[in-house]
Amino acid sequence: MVLVPYPLPMPTSDTARAGAAWPLDPLMLTKAARPLLLVVDDEPPVLRVVERMATKAGYDVTTCGGGADAMRELLRRPADLAMVDLRMPDVNGLDLLRQIRAAVPGCEVILMTGHAAVDSAVEAIKLGAREYLTKPFDYDRVRQLLVDIRVELERRAHVTALESQVARQLEFYGMVGRSPAMQEVFSLITRLATHAKVALVTGETGTGKELAARAFHQAGPRRHKPFLTINCSAVVDTLFESELFGHIRGAFTGAVESKAGVFELAHGGMLFLDEVGELPLSVQAKLLRALEYGEVQRVGSLQPKRVDVAVVAASNRDLRAEVAAGRFRGDLFYRLNVVEVVLPALRERREDIPYLTAVFLRDAAQRTRKAITGLTPSAERRLFNARWDGNVRELKNVIERACMLADASVISERELAGAFGPEGAATRTVEPPTLTPPRPSRAADRALATPPLEEIERNHILDVLRQVQGNRMAAAKLLGISRRALYRRLERHKLMDEVPPPSSGRRAL
Ligand SMILES: Nc1ncnc2c1ncn2[C@@H]1O[C@H](COP(=O)(O)OP(=O)(O)OP(=O)(O)O)[C@@H](O)[C@H]1O
Ligand SMILES: [Mg+2]
Repeated sequence: MVLVPYPLPMPTSDTARAGAAWPLDPLMLTKAARPLLLVVDDEPPVLRVVERMATKAGYDVTTCGGGADAMRELLRRPADLAMVDLRMPDVNGLDLLRQIRAAVPGCEVILMTGHAAVDSAVEAIKLGAREYLTKPFDYDRVRQLLVDIRVELERRAHVTALESQVARQLEFYGMVGRSPAMQEVFSLITRLATHAKVALVTGETGTGKELAARAFHQAGPRRHKPFLTINCSAVVDTLFESELFGHIRGAFTGAVESKAGVFELAHGGMLFLDEVGELPLSVQAKLLRALEYGEVQRVGSLQPKRVDVAVVAASNRDLRAEVAAGRFRGDLFYRLNVVEVVLPALRERREDIPYLTAVFLRDAAQRTRKAITGLTPSAERRLFNARWDGNVRELKNVIERACMLADASVISERELAGAFGPEGAATRTVEPPTLTPPRPSRAADRALATPPLEEIERNHILDVLRQVQGNRMAAAKLLGISRRALYRRLERHKLMDEVPPPSSGRRAL
């Protein structure tokens, strides 16, 4: 089903800015292509009559005289709706229904039969058939049913198209978010960007801290000056100082040339200190100095240099707890924390999920050159109810993988299951629709011996490592901790060799 001209013109990086207009053109949504109906029956007169009615009801129609042909046709060109005869010489309609549901779950199926039987009707509905029609047809009913399904298909695509357009219009420097919490974040950044020289962005992994830091840069007066990033979890301890502040020739073994640090390179612009919680204590003191006095000293030099750099730091660790544990300097924390932007976890702003999904879906569909227009209602529900421990990043990855797997115009639960992975985190983390975990009975409570916290943590880490085939980086992301923190835990739980990193030659760390 391609109901909107595809691909839609996407906003350029200029128009994607906050407040930039990307006209929402309802006319574009009405110039729709027709949904595709596949009719399968061994009686040519039935094929002809259904084809005539469906064409009038707004469908493109293909017809097949048997089950084998129908499956071939369906895999070649996935239909949005199939009308299938129950009894055909080469296949039982119920078997064909099963095959269609498995191969193209986004395709609705109507069964038709000349021998109405309650048993097969019930079985058909249980297998996911949309309707069960008896022959000779009640033409009015068939006509109405075809129109109803077409309207529903169109609405599904329109909703996705509109959601992605609305989300794009409200986009804030690449950040999508309609929830009050995200609107508040956007407004805070807008107000602070003009004045603040130091800010702290916190939030769980994948909540968009880096995007927020870039928004700070883009929304402020330094937007035409450099934006440099240093990821503190990726720097070897001994090189931190030199990376940040530079060094002079001969300052240490290997320092064959003088080199400027990121502070000097970002002069006039902005420096993004990602995962600032990973900075060693000794370097924290020097960073504090640079922030307080606007001066840096290259390693090996006694000459201070003045720099004018705005700093946005990010952390997915609770820095207050790090301060309390003595791993982060309190004075540096308070210096950075003058302005704190907290990015809420995705599960705390579920109303953003349909908009983020719509935008990611359209981007991914465009990249993969597939005419994917939406999701089935059950797939939507599944996305809405998942726990999203990996937050927006995880949602984006799931949608991208689902688009790669999709062969129909809608994404169904089948593609999502594949995208989450067979033992993927989100498969296990999908919550029941009520969102409240079932409480065990008192008897069950007593029967449950609670394992020690350490053991739960060890098992959980082991579980996650196995899910990601030992990839440390991926495991740390899923667990919401830094790679260093993961390594510390691997050592503590003696898990270093339990699940080895992938043997692709490219180590995860
Ligand atoms: N509000 C949003 N709108 C659109 N895309 C988003 C949003 N938030 C995050 N993303 C996307 O999700 C991914 C992760 O975002 P980002 O790298 O900014 O997260 P992070 O908080 O820095 O994660 P980490 O703590 O793991 O470094 C990126 O691909 C980003 O583009
Ligand atoms: Mg980040």
